[in-house]
Amino acid sequence: MSKVFASLGMSLDGFIAGPGSSPDNPLGDGGMRIHEWVFDVESWRSRQGIEGGRTNQDDAIVRENFSRAGAYIMGRQMFAEGEAGWSDPPPFRAPVFVLTHTPREPWVRQGGTTFTFVTDGIDSALAQARKAAGDKDVQVSGGADAVRQFLDAGLLDELQIHLAPLVLGSGVRLFDGVSPDLGLVPTQVVASPQVTHLTYRITSP
Ligand SMILES: NC(=O)c1ccc[n+]([C@@H]2O[C@H](COP(=O)([O-])OP(=O)(O)OC[C@H]3O[C@@H](n4cnc5c(N)ncnc54)[C@H](OP(=O)(O)O)[C@@H]3O)[C@@H](O)[C@H]2O)c1
Repeated sequence: MSKVFASLGMSLDGFIAGPGSSPDNPLGDGGMRIHEWVFDVESWRSRQGIEGGRTNQDDAIVRENFSRAGAYIMGRQMFAEGEAGWSDPPPFRAPVFVLTHTPREPWVRQGGTTFTFVTDGIDSALAQARKAAGDKDVQVSGGADAVRQFLDAGLLDELQIHLAPLVLGSGVRLFDGVSPDLGLVPTQVVASPQVTHLTYRITSP
C-alpha cells in the first residue's frame, strides 16, 4: 500500500515559517532561510526550469520525494502563499488537493498539476489523493495545520524534517498541540553542511 508522508523544512528552534507569513510574505519574516539548502540542488532547480545545481545527498532526497509523490495535499494558507509565485508548470507535476472552507473551481496548470479545492475535510482529501496517486505515495506538503490534522488522525506514515542550522525565534510551529503520545521511530539521518535530514516512521497518533 502506498504511504502518506510529510516533508518539511524546519529551523533548529522548531519553526516551519517565520512570523507574519502571508501571500505577500511567503514563509514569513526570515522563513525563506529554512529552504536555502534546497534552492541549490539540481532536482529542485530543474522542477523550476532552472539549470544547474548540486547533485549531493540533499539532491538525492529531494529527487526521491519528487519521484515517489503521486499526489499532494496542502492547506489553503500554503496554497495562498505559493499561488502567485509557483511557475507554470508548477513544481508538483501531479494532482494537488487543497484543504479549504471556501469552494473554488479546480485550477488546471501545465505539467500534470491541477489544484482541486476540498471542502469536506482530510479524509475526503486523502481518498481523492490516494486515487489520483495510484501506486505512488501521497505527500502532505503543509503547512502546520494540515500536517497536524494528519498526525492527530493517525493518517501519516512517515515524517521527514529537514533541519536548517538557524534560529527564527518565532513563527509557525509544527508540533504545537500535537499529542505527546505521538510515536516516532527514527529510520534515517542524512547530514550535509547545509541541512540535516531526519526521517521518522509514525507509529501512533
Ligand atoms: N517549512 C516548510 O517545509 C513548509 C511547508 C509548507 C508550508 N509552510 C508554511 O506554513 C505556513 C502555513 O501553515 P499554516 O499552518 O498556517 O496553514 P496551512 O496548513 O497551510 O493552511 C491552513 C488552512 O487550510 C484550511 N484547512 C485546513 N484544514 C482544513 C480542513 N480540514 N477543512 C477545511 N479547510 C481546512 C483552512 O483555510 P480556510 O478556512 O481559510 O479555507 C486553514 O486555515 C505558511 O507560511 C507556509 O509557507 C512551510
